[in-house]
Amino acid sequence: MKKTIDFIQSMKQNGQKIAMLTAYDYPTARILNDAEIDIILVGDSLGMVVLGYEDTRSVTMADMLHHTRIVARANTECLLVADLPHQAYETPEQAVKNARTLCDVGADAVKPEGNKPEIVKAIVSDGIPVIGHVGLLPQTSEKFRVHGRKRSEALLIADDAKALEAAGCFAIVLESIPEKLGRTIAQSLRIPTIGIGAGADCDGQVLVLHDILGLFDRFTPTFVKQYANMRKEIHRAVAHYKLEVQQGLFPDGEHSYH
Ligand code: KIV
Repeated sequence: MKKTIDFIQSMKQNGQKIAMLTAYDYPTARILNDAEIDIILVGDSLGMVVLGYEDTRSVTMADMLHHTRIVARANTECLLVADLPHQAYETPEQAVKNARTLCDVGADAVKPEGNKPEIVKAIVSDGIPVIGHVGLLPQTSEKFRVHGRKRSEALLIADDAKALEAAGCFAIVLESIPEKLGRTIAQSLRIPTIGIGAGADCDGQVLVLHDILGLFDRFTPTFVKQYANMRKEIHRAVAHYKLEVQQGLFPDGEHSYH
């Protein structure tokens, strides 16, 4: 049965950790669906790990709609969240229109970045659930660094999270902050916090699928744990295939029509 917002929120109350991962295509979305991951995120990291852009800023609504539609086709079990890409939520009207379009192609909720209570309120008022995102904000941050090491910055991040909860977010992503700050925010909010580089005390964790599979090698943040080296595996298979074609070993009798 498909996971709902109520279910995700009840996980925090019951002390169950939430597992969230990104997906951008049909085969990996099917794997996440079969593994009953709690939340699938069609994130705008899409731009870097799949589309070959330098950063997430080049991702468009057209990109997000294309990939959300594909992932939705595979998903029957998980809550499906889609990122609102850069410059797709400049005004409440634009945010609602774009959030609605993402839901029309299969998203259950959307994720804008930063403390934008007016944007969140407008989307939530239209009946669309919103997950917030504070700390490091890839769409606007100049540098990928840990945020909130200084007390003044930590207080601002904690205030942003509180404001987003008050605006109606059903959960919040905390990115690249010290684990102590992650714990403080998790304890001070009713809604679930989902960390990415925010320590073990968040109510859940999110990572980019291509990072945990070892498919993205441009850079690897400290918070990424690589659970497989698929780049190596795929390279090995491709090189083996090439060799067998060159040597006339493929196709053999088993892989030919008789
Ligand atoms: O786009 C993405 O993958 C994200 C995660 C970093 C949470 O927003």
